[in-house]
Amino acid sequence: MPDVPWWRSAVVYQIYPRSFADSDGNGIGDLRGILGRLDHLTRLGVDVVWLSPIYPSPQDDAGYDISDYEAVDPTFGTLADLDELIAALHERGMRLVLDLVVNHTSDEHPWFLESRSDPYGPWRDWYWWRPPRPGMEPGQPGAEPTNWQSFFSGSAWELDPASGEYFLHLFSRRQPDLNWENPKVREAVYAMMRRWLDRGIDGFRMDVINMISKAVSPVDGTLPDGPVLAGSPYGDGSAAFIGGPRIHEFVQEMHREVFAGRDAALLTVGEMPGVTVDQARLFTDPARGELDMVFQFEHVSLDQGGGKWDPRPFRLRDLKTSFGRWQAGLADVGWNSLYWNNHDQPRIVSRWGDDGAYRERSATMLATVLHCHRGTPYVYQGEELGMTNMPFSSIADFRDIESLNHYAVAVSRGEDPEHVLAAMRMMSRDNARTPVQWDASPHAGFTTGTPWIDVNPNHVEINAAAQVDDPGSVFSHYRRLITLRHDEPAVAHGDFTMLLPDHETVYAFTRRLPDDPRGDVELLVLGNFSGDDVRVDIDEGWAGSELVLGNYPDAAADVATLRPWEARVHRLVRPRP
Ligand code: NOJ
Repeated sequence: MPDVPWWRSAVVYQIYPRSFADSDGNGIGDLRGILGRLDHLTRLGVDVVWLSPIYPSPQDDAGYDISDYEAVDPTFGTLADLDELIAALHERGMRLVLDLVVNHTSDEHPWFLESRSDPYGPWRDWYWWRPPRPGMEPGQPGAEPTNWQSFFSGSAWELDPASGEYFLHLFSRRQPDLNWENPKVREAVYAMMRRWLDRGIDGFRMDVINMISKAVSPVDGTLPDGPVLAGSPYGDGSAAFIGGPRIHEFVQEMHREVFAGRDAALLTVGEMPGVTVDQARLFTDPARGELDMVFQFEHVSLDQGGGKWDPRPFRLRDLKTSFGRWQAGLADVGWNSLYWNNHDQPRIVSRWGDDGAYRERSATMLATVLHCHRGTPYVYQGEELGMTNMPFSSIADFRDIESLNHYAVAVSRGEDPEHVLAAMRMMSRDNARTPVQWDASPHAGFTTGTPWIDVNPNHVEINAAAQVDDPGSVFSHYRRLITLRHDEPAVAHGDFTMLLPDHETVYAFTRRLPDDPRGDVELLVLGNFSGDDVRVDIDEGWAGSELVLGNYPDAAADVATLRPWEARVHRLVRPRP
């Protein structure tokens, strides 16, 4: 198909380097560890690797606090190792996408050290410095320039006692926000991005990129308060920094300055908490020159009440409504990215599947439903093995700053520690961050040393060694799904129609490619989100269809019958007369 972007038929694999493979026995994954495991990716058949940050960092937020954008943290290796990885992936026909974290830096980045050191110097304006609220003293409760709560608990402002001013940090206090209003900041970021592309990487995953524009008053430089959050002294400032006033201008400028005119096959994906379908259409409309695709957050918020620590039951109908809207909204213009998991989300088989008796069946059903949507699927390390959430026993088992801060604040507010831990066991990001389970040996083949976070004890059963040669494994099912996307154009390019929107346990849809050289090609995708047998009302025309993929070894009695957690993909080809 001419003019169709290559990434529509691609599958991306995310590596979280700390937890992937450790080559030197210090308990933390590294680049040479990745180099030693490339056969796994080749066998899986993925097209692109996205690497979470490998840059020098104090690791306050596990590498999303960067102190040098242009080097590799010695914990992970060297620039030479990274060059070797780029070359090795390219040799195997895969591309490499790096994480770009430019909403904020580390507080140890030289830009911030300069900015903090001199309130009147040229670097001050690279970050968001503001005086206390009028009439208040620095450090006085409530004197912060706005009432915004940080994503990692507490105020989004930190006082610098030396100058008596506060700096903004939407995330940890060690992640000061860059001031994108300053053209020098933007120029420096673009130059850094160009250098990485010149070095041979194939694109960027852009961390919270829809937060870089803040609604600053052109009159007096103030930022607005947000509505006060229930049970918190702070407010929700997101209206002032999610999709802020200059966001499209900045992203278009980045596109012009960094990507335009390069003929390489690149990939740009923007991580965008809170993005709406309408905004996503603008961000991913090729005619606007912004991004290839975005990560939206609507589906991963469906099982949350007042925030992520307030889990509530998942309802399949909500998922269908949400995904259905995104599929329709980006049907003609723009493009979806498809994900269940990443380093910030709990493991999907524990979340919306059954990680007990039906672990393999439900993991493969979830994968089938996701990958057969229109969009580019992302596989997070270990997802292809059906890795589960971790049975954390106490607060001492957690490492993630978001989880630890939440626990401290919730317990100090008087919440029952056991109750707080119960929610963390379900929702903490550390569920995704336990080491990849390569084999059944003591540390799962991840390290010869002591892993930085415990290995899931179920690695004795759930591991790559046990799966890669087993045609009935979760790994082999992911492999077949990836092959299907490569080989069946209806998966990559077909139209999407949701079926049975009100059914409580069955997810059903079709993908249709009417103008394929074979004729009118249509796929029917069915997924049973329950441990019960179920019969569904499916058009009789599907009775004679070909079963192209399923997660049971034998055929079902008929097309309308689904066994526990069963997934199937059927194909009908109507040749042209
Ligand atoms: C989103 C990243 O995925 C997450 O891991 C990180 O903590 C925040 N952005 C801040 O960089």
